[in-house]
Amino acid sequence: HKSEAWSALFSEPVSDLVKRYTASVFFDKRLWLADITGSLAHAAMLERQGVISATDGAEIRRGMAQVRSEIESGAFEWKLDLEDVHLNIEARLTQLVGDAGKRLHTGRSRNDQVATDVRLWLRGEIDLIAGLLEDLQKALLDLAEKNAEVVMPGFTHLQVAQPVSFGHHMLAYVEMFARDHERMLDVRKRVNRLPLGAAALAGTTYPLDREWVAQELGMEGVCQNSLDAVSDRDFAIEFTAAASLVMVHVSRFSEELILWMSQNFGFIRIADRFTTGSSIMPQKKNPDVPELARGKTGRVVGHLMGLITLMKGQPLAYNKDNQEDKEPLFDTVDTLKDTLRIFADMAGGITVQPQAMEQAALKGYATATDLADYLVKKGLPFRDAHETVAHAVKAATSHNCDLSELPLAVLQQFHPQIEKDVYDALSLRGSLNARNTLGGTAPAQVRAQLARHRARLAA
Ligand code: ARG
Repeated sequence: HKSEAWSALFSEPVSDLVKRYTASVFFDKRLWLADITGSLAHAAMLERQGVISATDGAEIRRGMAQVRSEIESGAFEWKLDLEDVHLNIEARLTQLVGDAGKRLHTGRSRNDQVATDVRLWLRGEIDLIAGLLEDLQKALLDLAEKNAEVVMPGFTHLQVAQPVSFGHHMLAYVEMFARDHERMLDVRKRVNRLPLGAAALAGTTYPLDREWVAQELGMEGVCQNSLDAVSDRDFAIEFTAAASLVMVHVSRFSEELILWMSQNFGFIRIADRFTTGSSIMPQKKNPDVPELARGKTGRVVGHLMGLITLMKGQPLAYNKDNQEDKEPLFDTVDTLKDTLRIFADMAGGITVQPQAMEQAALKGYATATDLADYLVKKGLPFRDAHETVAHAVKAATSHNCDLSELPLAVLQQFHPQIEKDVYDALSLRGSLNARNTLGGTAPAQVRAQLARHRARLAA
């Protein structure tokens, strides 16, 4: 082998170690379809502009069709010597169609080529991810609807706070994943712009029609500055940031599932196909899937740190540093897609234990605020009511019972205006029903949320 694409100037070949160190083909070959798509659009434009002949254009199309089928069938021979996906495909094309293949790279550099390929590839992945985020939301909506009326303790500081419905709790996650979906589509707009035509860094001397190529590739616009076009990877960073947020939401959900599954909570069961046993303890069912998702969140957030750090010291324009954008980006996409698929599936395998949830809500004085609100309605200032209820909670604690289990006569010692109807306020359902403000946990509000999300996802 001569030194391939830039041979004449070099007096010795690179060492094997350098070859391996600089090559990217074994990971960037997954960009092959984007690479061919971009090349075909570039060639068609060159032909339209009279830069290459119609015969060359036809030869390039014929050769690329062959390359494509070789890659699809697995017959294509990827060569480390040819460094990356771009040079591998171009070399095979030239082998197949001769001079026409050598003309493909007219007015183009690998710098604008690779930036285009990554954007095309990522755009497709974002569309898949957006679909998966919708699937997960639908699965959570089903779970929420099925258990809309189940009461559980809501927590702050992981201490029992106020009763909420399980449906309401699930709908909180639907909100998060809905924002994640929105964020992905927003990132997509900036991913979907065309660097091709920027050439190495400064533009090119051929009369390229970049707008036409952008349209041909379904892109929303052309990168307007050639230096910026080839060098920035902010679109990849932005995507990874959005992906990190998805994973953070998945991770919070995972943490809750793990807690709820533990014997101390006993709130839920997860279908056996998402749990694993222990090799020593026969009684075990471990929540491996949510635990791994929580762990993989660290990995994706790590990729975000990797990519953003990759960018920070680079002078304009292209630097080989950017070849390091691919593995973190690919792994982010793979991890995210697998995680979303498995969670959409797992949501359908969650069964709720309503009695355990209600028992837990009854244990932590979850309706103490309701007693305070009851007294406020009788005319007490809220701060005084708060103090009064603190005394009642203290008494209930010493009797080892819930507020609703204190006899009326005892409650009246804390305030004479307390009457029999206090027990409605002190019940879990009464507490729930009373929180009927927009976005609250009252069944009417939860039904409204469900309907709104159903309509949004059907549209
Ligand atoms: N494999 C390279 C990358 O991923 C392609 C661009 C190389 N350009 C160059 N001038 N060395 O970034």
